Amino acid sequence: MTTERSQAPQSIPTRRVQLEASFEDVPRHFAEGNDLLLSHLTVSLSSMFPDGEEFFVRSVRHFRDRIEDPVLKRQVAGFIGQEAVHGREHRAFNERMEELGYPAKHFERMTARFLKLREKLLPPIANLAATAALEHFTATLGALVLSDESVRASFGHPAVRDLFVWHALEETEHKAVAFDVYRAVGGPEWLRILTMRTMRVLFVVGVVTQMLVSLAQDPGTFQRGRLRASWRHLRTTPLLRRALWQELRAYDRRGFHPSDIPTDDLVETWRARLFGEGGSMVDKLAGSQAA
Ligand SMILES: [Fe+2]
Ligand SMILES: [Fe+2]
Repeated sequence: MTTERSQAPQSIPTRRVQLEASFEDVPRHFAEGNDLLLSHLTVSLSSMFPDGEEFFVRSVRHFRDRIEDPVLKRQVAGFIGQEAVHGREHRAFNERMEELGYPAKHFERMTARFLKLREKLLPPIANLAATAALEHFTATLGALVLSDESVRASFGHPAVRDLFVWHALEETEHKAVAFDVYRAVGGPEWLRILTMRTMRVLFVVGVVTQMLVSLAQDPGTFQRGRLRASWRHLRTTPLLRRALWQELRAYDRRGFHPSDIPTDDLVETWRARLFGEGGSMVDKLAGSQAA
């Protein structure tokens, strides 16, 4: 059996998680209570991850040779390893969603095209600033998933919950890496903050647009009263609460650092719950007996 020992918070292990087989029986409306909007929101986010994460890796790798701190060098290697596995597993999930009728692969291609264009038009430091900003997004959402049982339950199907809880743990583990690289190579505060302000708008517009396109293609959207009931439910979830948006905005403060938001206890708890002795996802690691 593969297990993991308790590690120092700055260690960023690459875990070869394999979830593809468990996606086979995920239904179209997998979210808790067959919820329409939460299913579409989850697929919209997942569709952005694989190409988004490849962009993050390219942005950080570009500056790798300029990093002198050996601890940060090791963390960059861990960050690249974690993002590569996330991308692979989310692509597998997106393929299953495509089979079920979501335009998930189309959204993947749109994300890839948008990011390639960005890289063509903007200098590497601006793309690293975008990576650091989006990593604050994933870390903030990740901490919400890890700390709120109702958010974890809202994923519904256990395979989707495993995918997002494991991803949430690793986003929390490596939340400061892109940020620290940006600082180490002299990225200016004004560009970091301006980029976050832009990415916040683009992210919300991107997710909402994808959801509208995706909902328009789903017969469930047109079942009497279903969309309205789902909207009423979404408004009560922590995703639309002010506290979440305040945490996202904390990044705009000059001198902000991701470690200003304490998450070490969450990381320790979830490392043990998922991958510690008898952890719930130990059997999903490559090389484990059940994998
Ligand atoms: Fe990731
Ligand atoms: Fe990440």
